[in-house]
Amino acid sequence: MRLFLDTANIDEIRRAARMGVVSGVTTNPTLIAKEGGVSYRQRVLEIAEVVDGPISAECITRTTDEIVEEGLGLASWHPNVVVKVPLDEAGLAAIHRLSAQDVRINTTLIFSVNQALLAAEAGASYVSPFVGRLDDIGEDGIGLVREIAEVFDRYHLPCQVLAASLRHPRHVTEAAKAGAHVATLPFNVLLQMLKHPLTDSGIERFLADYERVFGQRTPAS
Ligand code: G3P
Repeated sequence: MRLFLDTANIDEIRRAARMGVVSGVTTNPTLIAKEGGVSYRQRVLEIAEVVDGPISAECITRTTDEIVEEGLGLASWHPNVVVKVPLDEAGLAAIHRLSAQDVRINTTLIFSVNQALLAAEAGASYVSPFVGRLDDIGEDGIGLVREIAEVFDRYHLPCQVLAASLRHPRHVTEAAKAGAHVATLPFNVLLQMLKHPLTDSGIERFLADYERVFGQRTPAS
């Protein structure tokens, strides 16, 4: 399972890229709005300098013609741009037209297997089931990821399952076990994945044991 970062914050993306674990970035209107008015295009181009992988940029128009025009514009920003389209009737028709023009699509706000099937049939490259938001209303977000992955696998659909709206590290583990091709993570979830109290206490103990015998630490040579 590949890991994408779910943020439009360039400092977070730079830090995560330095760790060598991020192979793409997803953004949405909420995330870009948090960046204090920076131009969406400028931010996507900054991200493209840091991460060599798919960068999802989301359409904000609502009719099919508008989404197609906007999507072509977003895709022209950089070859790594994947156009994010919310799933409704207008969005589905736009996905069909854009994918026919070789624009890669990430279909967002997926909450059912049927929505995922429709997006895949229309030609989307990714579907994004929103795990946390389903959990919020008492449903099983990871269960949806598993069902979509099973159906896509059974029918050899080329569309990838991108688990989104992940809120904590357990979601990431469960998304991997459920067969997601990609998990997109808020930066704080990536940092939480690194952490284990036994790792921290183990490092302290190794260093204390070494210093007790050898005194000041100097790198082994
Ligand atoms: O990738 C989708 C994500 O940004 C939504 O997350 O936490 O607002 O449901 P959340």
